[in-house]
Amino acid sequence: MILAPSILAADFGHLAEEVARVERGGAGLVHLDVMDGHFVPNITLGPSVVKAVRKATGLPLDCHLMIEHADRWLDAFIDAGADWISVHVEALPHLQRTVAHLRQRGVQAGAALNPSTPLSSLEEILPDLDYVLVMSVNPGFGGQTFLPRSVDKVRRMRALIASRGLTTRIEVDGGVDETNVRALLDAGADVIVAGQAVFGRQDPEAAARRFLEACR
Ligand code: DX5
Ligand code: ZN
Repeated sequence: MILAPSILAADFGHLAEEVARVERGGAGLVHLDVMDGHFVPNITLGPSVVKAVRKATGLPLDCHLMIEHADRWLDAFIDAGADWISVHVEALPHLQRTVAHLRQRGVQAGAALNPSTPLSSLEEILPDLDYVLVMSVNPGFGGQTFLPRSVDKVRRMRALIASRGLTTRIEVDGGVDETNVRALLDAGADVIVAGQAVFGRQDPEAAARRFLEACR
């Protein structure tokens, strides 16, 4: 299981220190939420922030692109240091081309699903993906309430992946904390994003450690 703290909940004035704290706490991936004010009702960060975080840590960087025309921005995020990139199925009509480009550039390719988007939308592309990102809130903001039906969605996603003989990772993002993470792991999730539950706490290093403890 990989813990991916989301820097959306971190102190942006001290990003390098914040990332170092969760690295010490056992994080395996740093999650960066990219929002454009169009696909989601919020604006966050772009390639220059990814580049700054890249300099601050040796951990792989997971860029979650909540933007329209994501295919125009893939190279900019890869050049800035992204190791994993997920794009939203709802925003891309030519997902196969986008995913092929990510893989050709050597990054982990992920497809993200909003809570109301069915698993069936991934059936054809599944063999080409390194990971699926199941959103457990409607994307746009950190600190939202976890949608409980996401647990069953993860379970069905894991069954679909297994039925195809694949080992695709399942990442879950939104409102995850110590109270619901166990159920998600039991359902088949293996990458867990946590914003408030890590950076929202007074001591993010200790919070990451406690979070991982709750996963055991
Ligand atoms: C929501 C973002 C999430 C968010 C998670 O649109 O994609 O990654 O930062 O934050 P929490 O864990 O606070 O819900
Ligand atoms: Zn995210």
